[in-house]
Amino acid sequence: MKTAGGTDAAKRRAGERAAEEVDNGDVVGLGTGSTTAYAIDAIGEAVSDGLEVQGIPTSFQSRQRALEASIPLTDLDAVETVDLAIDGADQVVDDPDASGYGALIKGGGAAHTREKLVDAAAERFVVVADPSKLADRLERSVPVEVIPDAHTVVADRVQDLGGEPTLRDAEHKDGPIVTDNGNLVLDCAFGPISDPNELATQLSRIPGVLEHGLFVDCADVTYVGLEEGVETRV
Ligand code: 5RP
Repeated sequence: MKTAGGTDAAKRRAGERAAEEVDNGDVVGLGTGSTTAYAIDAIGEAVSDGLEVQGIPTSFQSRQRALEASIPLTDLDAVETVDLAIDGADQVVDDPDASGYGALIKGGGAAHTREKLVDAAAERFVVVADPSKLADRLERSVPVEVIPDAHTVVADRVQDLGGEPTLRDAEHKDGPIVTDNGNLVLDCAFGPISDPNELATQLSRIPGVLEHGLFVDCADVTYVGLEEGVETRV
C-alpha cells in the first residue's frame, strides 16, 4: 500500500475522525489508499462492536482491507443510497481564495474511476488527508485512465492541452500498471493548474479517456490529520 508523504500518525487521525461520521445503518463508500485504510479499520472495529453498515469498496485493495476488517460489502447497483463516502487525496487546494478551493487530485493508487463513481454517488463525501497533501494550487500530475488502445492518441491530445503524459509503469516488473478495470494510466503533468474545472472539462472530452483524477466541487468536508489533532476544512 502506498504510504508516501505524511506520517502514519496524521493519516490515522484523519481516517479515524472520518470513521466517526458513520451511523448505524449507513451505506459507506470505502476509498483507496493508506489514509482511508485507517478509516476502514476503524469502521471494522465499530462493526465488531455492533455497528451495522454496508461498505462499497472502490478498488481491489479497499475490498481486501474491508474484508479483513469484517465489514459487510455491497455494490453500487444494489443500494438506493450511499450515505457517505470516505476517500483520500494526492493533493487538495487549501487556499480559500484560489479558483477550485477544495478541488482534489486523486488516482495515486490508479483507483480514481471507481472512486469518482462512488464518491459522487454519496450524499456526503468526506476527504481524509495529511498536511503533505495541502497546496495553494494543484500541481501534481493528473492521473488519466485510458482504454489500452487509446493511450497514444490520448497522450497526443494531452500534449495539445499543454500536458506532458507518462504511461504509468509497474515498479517491480516490466510493463505498465493495469487498473482494476483493465485499463492503463497516463500521469499528465500540467504544472500549476490555475483552473481545475476547465482542465477537468477538457480532459473529459477526449475520446478514450475513461476518467481523470481531477475531483472538482465534490468534497463536503476534509479532515486533515496532524501530529496531534485533526483540522476540519469545509
Ligand atoms: C487512490 C487515491 C488515494 O486516495 C490517494 O492516492 C491518496 O492515497 P494515500 O492516502 O495513500 O496517500 O486516489 O487512487
